[in-house]
Amino acid sequence: MPITIAQLQKYKLQHRPIVALTATDYAIAKMVDQAEVDLILVGDSLAMVALGHPNTLPLTLEQTIHHTQAVGRAVSHALLVVDLPFLSYQISPEQAILAAGSILQQTPAQAVKLEGASPRILHTVERLTEVGIPVIGHLGLTPQSVYQLGYRQQATTPAAATDLLTQAQALTQAGIFALVLEHIPSDLAAQVTQALAIPTIGIGAGHHCDGQILVTHDLLGLSDQIPPFAKQYANLREIAQQAIAAYSLEVRRREFPS
Ligand code: KIV
Repeated sequence: MPITIAQLQKYKLQHRPIVALTATDYAIAKMVDQAEVDLILVGDSLAMVALGHPNTLPLTLEQTIHHTQAVGRAVSHALLVVDLPFLSYQISPEQAILAAGSILQQTPAQAVKLEGASPRILHTVERLTEVGIPVIGHLGLTPQSVYQLGYRQQATTPAAATDLLTQAQALTQAGIFALVLEHIPSDLAAQVTQALAIPTIGIGAGHHCDGQILVTHDLLGLSDQIPPFAKQYANLREIAQQAIAAYSLEVRRREFPS
């Protein structure tokens, strides 16, 4: 049975950790979905791990839709969520509705994620949910603001921690159904998780969140560089390189095809 938004809310109440991962294409999504994770995110990190860009900013809405269509063909279990790419939603709520609406019309995704909690973003969340588009928020390290924030841990002072908690509450009030907390202190993530009725999904935010998400390329050893808070569970790049080297050798020795 496909996972629903209502089920994620139930998991929070039941203290059953939510398992989330990213996917960028059909092959990755097939592996992730067959492992029965709860939520698959077509994250804008695909700009880096699948397209080779130095950050998430160059990703376009068209590229996002193209990758989500491929991911969508593989997903039958997880809730499929898509990152609204940089500059597809920050200009106005109307722009965000058109971007999110085209993702929902052209792909099987059921929700979008956006970064930040400025007054304009809060209004955008209200407008998106008003037209029936479910939204996940994202606070802490927000990679689309890399040139302002860098990739360092966020909300490390008491004042910044209070701000983040206030923003999380404002986003919840605006209508988000879950909140990604990236690279913030674990005790702050625990406080936010405790304060909100909606699930928090952490990445580099400790183990008190209602769920965890990682970039699948980091977990599988397919990224050039992984953040300090991620964990590599396998080294698929090394395994693939060994297989390719074995194939090359056999071709050069005329052993393949036999
Ligand atoms: O783009 C992404 O992959 C993300 C996750 C790291 C949460 O936003």
